[in-house]
Amino acid sequence: MKFERTRGTDDFLPKDTAIWQYLEAQLREICETYHFKEIRTPIFEHTEVFQRGVGETTDIVQKEMYSFFDQGERSITLRPEGTAGVARAYIQNKLYGEVNQPIKVYYNGPMFRYERQQEGRRRQFHQFCVEALGSEDPAIDAEVIALAMGIYERLGIDSIQLVINSLGDIESRKQHREALINHFTPHIDELCSDCQNRLSTNPLRVLDCKTDMDHPAMKTAPKILDFLNEESAQYFEQVKSYLDAMDIPYVVDATLVRGLDYYNHTAFEIMGTAEGFGAHSTLLGGGRYNGLVEEFGGPSTPGVGFGLGMERLLLALEHDEIELPLDNELDVFVVKIGDSVSEQAMRTVYQLRKAGFKVDQDYQKRGVKAQFRAAGRLQAKFVIVIGEEEMNKATVNLRSMADREEIEVANEELVTVLKSKLGGTK
Ligand code: HAM
Repeated sequence: MKFERTRGTDDFLPKDTAIWQYLEAQLREICETYHFKEIRTPIFEHTEVFQRGVGETTDIVQKEMYSFFDQGERSITLRPEGTAGVARAYIQNKLYGEVNQPIKVYYNGPMFRYERQQEGRRRQFHQFCVEALGSEDPAIDAEVIALAMGIYERLGIDSIQLVINSLGDIESRKQHREALINHFTPHIDELCSDCQNRLSTNPLRVLDCKTDMDHPAMKTAPKILDFLNEESAQYFEQVKSYLDAMDIPYVVDATLVRGLDYYNHTAFEIMGTAEGFGAHSTLLGGGRYNGLVEEFGGPSTPGVGFGLGMERLLLALEHDEIELPLDNELDVFVVKIGDSVSEQAMRTVYQLRKAGFKVDQDYQKRGVKAQFRAAGRLQAKFVIVIGEEEMNKATVNLRSMADREEIEVANEELVTVLKSKLGGTK
């Protein structure tokens, strides 16, 4: 029997994980500069968390969740997204009681959605997300957007566009909802069966239907921006003026609605604009979700955040042909001449590793030439050669792979010499 990966999942091999680790470190660093701290919540939650949080009528909940009953007959779901779990954790751990609000957190990990096979859509994918809970200041919306934009800037990806919209507050959305129902009802027979249901349950969802997206009524559908009440309009203006103050370019797209129900006020996406990016150009999506914590039975708590697709970030790096400064090099490869030196070599490798150098040696009983070739393939900066002669003298032969310079070094001097040669980075 031959086992293969489940569709829509990936194996990330050592050559790939070097890139992931680099990116994750960069993302962490930028989050720290914005004073966000890491949170880790479970990868599975009670199914109700997502039903209530993401919304019963969303595609995610209706079609895409990996749900199962556990041994205790509880319905469990592998998280399709992280915001609902963070809101649950905010309440359960009484983070609303902390003096410093908003609580600013980031997290990173796998998400699961049963998606149709398409480029850029995986069934297990990875998001890097931030959430700020506990403030209704438009400055925090702008800050979260600035952080998102800063990630791509830091990595040198410039073929991106920030798209923003406002979904307004509950009152504005009610007005818009009525208008949508009035607009689509005459066309109800021409819409897909999902949209026929959505029109009565959640008409906003009709606007992001993939089946009916080309229906003429979509283009003329009432836009939420025309229904914003005074307060919501002012909120949006304030977010925009903060973005202007930071010189962050954006376009307003009144048709941007996002695919999750918890959003209100600010909604935004960052699109990849490189040629050939195709339909899955949304690199990152986020927005404000003021009612979510309350929906879960917590105190009224505003929130805002985003989720960045890691796989799509990798695609964007590829499209922009960006070489990351990965440090894959080995400091030292130890070449052994003959079996009799193997203990001495083991001791040297061990001591150098303890001193913090990245070191490897041959485990294939290869000849000297083949060991040197291996050192080259592994991009070793230095090769240490140990033969019987060196062993007896308690020295090694240290060879720089860059300039082929060779020196004899006493064993007890080796760490100091290497430290000075490797520029004091150890
Ligand atoms: P989302 O728009 O569903 O938002 O996902 C955010 C990002 O995750 C997308 O823009 C995309 O880059 C990536 N993504 C989504 N689905 C897939 C997939 N099947 N394969 C690969 N990448 C994918 C959320 O999940 C919200 N929780 C974001 C958020 C956080 N809003 C506020 N806080």
